[in-house]
Amino acid sequence: MNEILRVEHLRKYFIKKGMFGSKSTTVKATDDVSFTLRKGEVLVLAGESGSGKSTIAKLILKSIQADSGKIFFEEQEINNEKKSLEKIRMNCQMIHQDPYDSINPRMQIGDIVSEPLEIHKIGNKKERSERVIEVLQEVKLEPAEEIINKYPHMLSGGQRQRVVLARALALKPKIILADEPVSMLDVSIRAEMLELMQELQKKYEISFIYITHDLATARYFGQRIAILYLGKIIEIGLINQVLTNPRHPYTQALIDAISEPDPENLHKEREIRINESKNIDVYQGCRFRARCPYVVEKCDTEPNLEKIDDEHYCACHVTLD
Ligand SMILES: Nc1ncnc2c1ncn2[C@@H]1O[C@H](COP(=O)(O)OP(=O)(O)OP(=O)(O)O)[C@@H](O)[C@H]1O
Ligand SMILES: [Mg+2]
Repeated sequence: MNEILRVEHLRKYFIKKGMFGSKSTTVKATDDVSFTLRKGEVLVLAGESGSGKSTIAKLILKSIQADSGKIFFEEQEINNEKKSLEKIRMNCQMIHQDPYDSINPRMQIGDIVSEPLEIHKIGNKKERSERVIEVLQEVKLEPAEEIINKYPHMLSGGQRQRVVLARALALKPKIILADEPVSMLDVSIRAEMLELMQELQKKYEISFIYITHDLATARYFGQRIAILYLGKIIEIGLINQVLTNPRHPYTQALIDAISEPDPENLHKEREIRINESKNIDVYQGCRFRARCPYVVEKCDTEPNLEKIDDEHYCACHVTLD
């Protein structure tokens, strides 16, 4: 079997308390999400802010509890027992958008990178120090022997994100969940960081879930892509299939937004904005229907993901007709 991770029907709702006496609302951050991550692949999760990308990553690592659904790592279901949690947390590492979310500014780099090894009681002190030097060299932070004594503020933003990558690599994880790992970096160093992640991903055949709203970096780094909209996967397939032949109007709009402006695209964008103002319960029927330029009557019922081509699935009543 070439899968390493599988999530089935994951669901996580949040209750948002109303302000100044207004009613509470339910946010369906992850709603019946299922997908498989294959060994050694980079699966991109893309979608606009609030579509539920980070929530999925947190559910996989069990840093938040799902309302329902299952997670399988190497065919074994992850439950809340200590052994099971340890297994997923050793094999699956997270890289956050902001390095300061995962590194303590008062710790030296050597201790930051060594911390996961200590938590999971890997090796003795000498072996841990050797591993720290090794991973710092892997992420090209050199001379590693000097870097270990520095503090995060003494490094550049790009270097700090390399520290985060080194820390994630220290335990030789099989999976890395990278949540917008380059979006806070200067454009000039973004490519370097992506190249480095790609090099290490290939060298160690690490499976990546790469979370981004940037389709250009998705195309560069990913093999498959799942497009999320309000907590649901609305299209999934090989990067080339989805980005060159997008079938869902939302995917089309996302791609139009980054392509060269031409009169037709501007027209579509305008239509999407106009529809957005309709007062519709987004969780009834197709979630995109309030913004969709192609909406028809049957969009009142929720479309399922259906196969349109090998590997390519889309949830839309209109484009699948
Ligand atoms: N702890 C929480 N309590 C209440 N609502 C939450 C919580 N965490 C997330 N949400 C809501 O769930 C939805 C999905 O959030 P999530 O952070 O997963 O989105 P995202 O796709 O990662 O967005 P971004 O691109 O901005 O990082 C949003 O509407 C968010 O406000
Ligand atoms: Mg997020």
